[in-house]
Amino acid sequence: MEELHRQGRIVQSKPGTVPRQKRYLDEMPGMPVSTWWDDIPPVQAQGAERLGYPTQKPLALLERVIAASSRPGDVVLDPFCGCGTALIAAETLGRRWIGIDVTYLSIAVMRARLRDAFGLEDVPVIGQPTEVEGARQLAQSPGGRYQFQWWALGLIDAKPLGGVEKKGADRGIDGVITFTDRNGEIRTVLVSVKSGGVNSGMVRDLKGTLEREQASIGLFVTMEEPTEPMREEAATAGLFHSELWNRDYQRIQLLSIRELLAGTKPALPPFVLPTYQQAERVPTKMAAEQREMFGG
Ligand SMILES: C[S@@+](CC[C@H](N)C(=O)[O-])C[C@H]1O[C@@H](n2cnc3c(N)ncnc32)[C@H](O)[C@@H]1O
Repeated sequence: MEELHRQGRIVQSKPGTVPRQKRYLDEMPGMPVSTWWDDIPPVQAQGAERLGYPTQKPLALLERVIAASSRPGDVVLDPFCGCGTALIAAETLGRRWIGIDVTYLSIAVMRARLRDAFGLEDVPVIGQPTEVEGARQLAQSPGGRYQFQWWALGLIDAKPLGGVEKKGADRGIDGVITFTDRNGEIRTVLVSVKSGGVNSGMVRDLKGTLEREQASIGLFVTMEEPTEPMREEAATAGLFHSELWNRDYQRIQLLSIRELLAGTKPALPPFVLPTYQQAERVPTKMAAEQREMFGG
């Protein structure tokens, strides 16, 4: 007791209270992780980590699994990777990775998440359409309409609206992109994707929706090539003026799948916000703690 006292290890909150021994965390062996993990809460419905993918797992859980069972540089394979939590954890912990999923919604979410979190722009995706005929086949396959929509939204880095829980967003709007203009004002780009026949009435509808929703720009993405009357209708929507860049952008832009596959991008102001803003916050401190816990 005297020795501990000399070391300043005996503390009293106030005179007269029971003295206590001061202990430092790094001197304690801690408790080994057991088979029952109840210290990682599930992703909450309103939680900051939530992306809207119905089966999303908490990042801390996947970080623990990966840190416990692999070393930096190893390859992590998740053959049902959903919104890609395992891939984000693997990348954070310096592992290489391969993800597989059957739905394009998952691929769109994953690509956006990897881009937003790590700036990984061109993650190779194997098995998706690379030419117009493949895209048409995807659109015409059973249940292919939504797969086509999600795939097309991925081509322009738009966030699918409604996700899998709420198929078929209202008002013919399937996706959204946001950017900031002067004074940090958040502006919206609405995206409509059409896998079937198209006409100028649909462009007119998009124009009406932009006005109603006070959105800045509308993108009309089509499997079929736009017709001349559609181009004329789009031109009547005029221009969006970005105050920040002092530049005009076509308010309604028609983009065919052929053009997108050839590398055409929508003309948007450069300050496009992350598709999933939450994905920015990769808690690297937590990852560092995981590494320490498993000596990985
Ligand atoms: C339980 S979820 C994975 C959740 C993931 N851990 C996360 O954090 O998002 C299962 C995933 O498997 C995918 N899936 C279902 N059948 C599949 C198949 N035959 N091949 C590849 N992926 C499939 C589903 O699309 C779904 O995204």
